[in-house]
Amino acid sequence: MAGNKTFTMIKPDAVESGHIGAILAKINEAGFRITAMKMMQLSAKKAGEFYAVHKERPFYGELVAFMSSGPIVAAILEKDNAVEDFRTLIGATDPAKAAPGTIRALYARNVGENAVHGSDSDENAAIEGAFFFSGLERF
Ligand code: RTP
Ligand code: MG
Repeated sequence: MAGNKTFTMIKPDAVESGHIGAILAKINEAGFRITAMKMMQLSAKKAGEFYAVHKERPFYGELVAFMSSGPIVAAILEKDNAVEDFRTLIGATDPAKAAPGTIRALYARNVGENAVHGSDSDENAAIEGAFFFSGLERF
C-alpha cells in the first residue's frame, strides 16, 4: 500500500522569485497537510549529501551549487498516496515538458532551477524527512 507522507523543498530559484506563498497555496489546494516546515540555507556539503544518489551525473556539481546558493523551504506533507500525487502536482523535471498548471510549469526556470523537489519513493520520503526534521519538529 502506498504511504501517506512525502518530502518537499521549495528550491532557491522559487524562493528568490517570491513564489513561496503561491506554491504553498497549490500544495494546500491539492489536499496535502503540512506537518513540518522550515526555511534554511543548505551548505554545499549538506546539499551534496541530500543529492548523493546523483553523484556520478554530469549535472551534480551544478545541482549542489544551485541548491546551496540561497534559502530553501523544506516541508513534510501528508495525504493518501502522497509521493505519487505530489509528483503529479509538481510535473516533469524539465518545466518545458511539465503538464500545464503543474508547479514546475508555472514557476520553474529550467531543468536545473526547477522550483521544487519531491520525493520519488516512500522509502526516500522517510529518509529525506528525517534528514531535515527531528521528532520535535514534526506534527
Ligand atoms: P527532484 O529530485 O529535485 O525532485 O527532481 P526530479 O526527481 O524531478 O529529478 P532528478 O532526476 O532526481 O534530478 C534532481 C535534480 O537535479 C537537477 N537536474 N539538472 N541539468 C540537468 O540536466 C539536470 N537534470 C536534473 C534538477 O534540479 C533536478 O530536479
Ligand atoms: Mg529526484
